[in-house]
Amino acid sequence: MIHIQLDHTRQISEGFDVEMEQTAGLTRTDIVDNYRLRLGESEYVPLVVGGMGVNISTVELALEACRLGGIGHISDAMAPQVADKRFGTKYIKAKNARYIDTRDLLDKSTVKFDLEDLRQAQLALVQDAMSHKTGPGGVFVNVMEKLTMGAPAETLRTRLAAALDGGIDGITLSAGLHTHSLRLIEDHPRFRDAKIGIIVSSVRALKIFLRSAKRVDRLPDYVIVEGPLAGGHLGFGSDWREYQLHDIVAEVLAYLCDESLAIPVIPAGGIFTGTDAVEFLRAGAAAVQVATRFTITEECGLSNSIKQLYAAADEEDVVVSMVSSTGYPLRLLTSSPCLGSNVKPQCEPFGYVLGKDGTCLYLDAYEATPFDLDGKKLPVTERICLCYHFAKQKVYTCGHYVYRLKNTTHRLDDGSYQLLTVEQVFTDYQYSAEHEIALPVQRQSA
Ligand SMILES: Cc1cc2nc3c(=O)[nH]c(=O)nc-3n(C[C@H](O)[C@H](O)[C@H](O)COP(=O)(O)O)c2cc1C
Repeated sequence: MIHIQLDHTRQISEGFDVEMEQTAGLTRTDIVDNYRLRLGESEYVPLVVGGMGVNISTVELALEACRLGGIGHISDAMAPQVADKRFGTKYIKAKNARYIDTRDLLDKSTVKFDLEDLRQAQLALVQDAMSHKTGPGGVFVNVMEKLTMGAPAETLRTRLAAALDGGIDGITLSAGLHTHSLRLIEDHPRFRDAKIGIIVSSVRALKIFLRSAKRVDRLPDYVIVEGPLAGGHLGFGSDWREYQLHDIVAEVLAYLCDESLAIPVIPAGGIFTGTDAVEFLRAGAAAVQVATRFTITEECGLSNSIKQLYAAADEEDVVVSMVSSTGYPLRLLTSSPCLGSNVKPQCEPFGYVLGKDGTCLYLDAYEATPFDLDGKKLPVTERICLCYHFAKQKVYTCGHYVYRLKNTTHRLDDGSYQLLTVEQVFTDYQYSAEHEIALPVQRQSA
């Protein structure tokens, strides 16, 4: 990989202008900025920053992508907890106090969310984001179906309706087939005005969703096709290595074409350079969704020490594991403190993954794990308490190419990596060519 040294935000666009002048009349370099994503009346730079929960893609990160003309996602994963941190509310404390009686039991079937609290938390987060919105882009929310929260339909309806009430530009349905999700909000006044899209990893999943969308006469405005190199949970089994994003995207494009459905397709997962993105745009994609490169930005919600772990990661530090209590494979760094933890299930304060009858794969794994001779629970190796560990930033989930982050910035004299800004990463995707990644101007160590 060739690196060019630039004051990124200023010089890259100047450099680009020069290149355009020099090449006037000739074939111009193909870059992301030559394309635009059209969703209804709206037009965007075809870069979507994917939702990263819990609060990894912060409001600040999403707002920057929006200001720069792309689409930024906030995530509604654990909205009450995020609201508590952001606005000083006490939703988690109140829920925990309500369920004091079940804390030492493994029967969590009574643990539910207060739907009014949930609505208020979601509304506050979305309104906060939308009230600070600037620029020509969009702010969308990523809504994971797998957060069943002890009452899947009721909690999902509450989350979706509150996001629409809060004025969100778009909703991306993720982590599930979402066969009933549209129906839950079909009476909402913004059902046809807000953009609604879905993340799928196969034509099969798309077909299932489209059948349910046709029943409410509301097709998705876009389809994100997420391949096996993405961060977070994967829509593949343990055979994820056998799939290629390019192939799945080609199949989805062919299927939509056969069905005469003009739905924009947005590939995601392992798109690391602007040139990677251009390859998909040339092949018929309407935009690309990216995430991992933004994990070492100042606006990202991870702590600074975790950002440094991401920047320093090597390929052998990354695993795809079945420890998630959602049952989906999860890509994460092997240094994630959640692995082999024996924490007591934390459904009373959190409980996001609980099924409607109080089930959770971590509860089963915890119950099956014996105690040592001193009465201490041995490490639970099968599953992790996803809620607790995501809430406490102990799950270092990442895309496959996390180990290339070190090539996108400088190592400073003190050994740490220089953090980037969303603007630097975004404009690098937007304007770079030939797989080059522009390094920022080097700062002095702190
Ligand atoms: C740290 C991190 C957290 C993520 N969390 C979520 C999530 O909560 N929901 C979701 O649908 N996708 C999640 N993703 C997937 C991204 O939104 C995105 O589609 C994918 O990572 C893009 O691939 P890339 O990271 O290789 O660019 C996450 C990705 C990362 C890196």
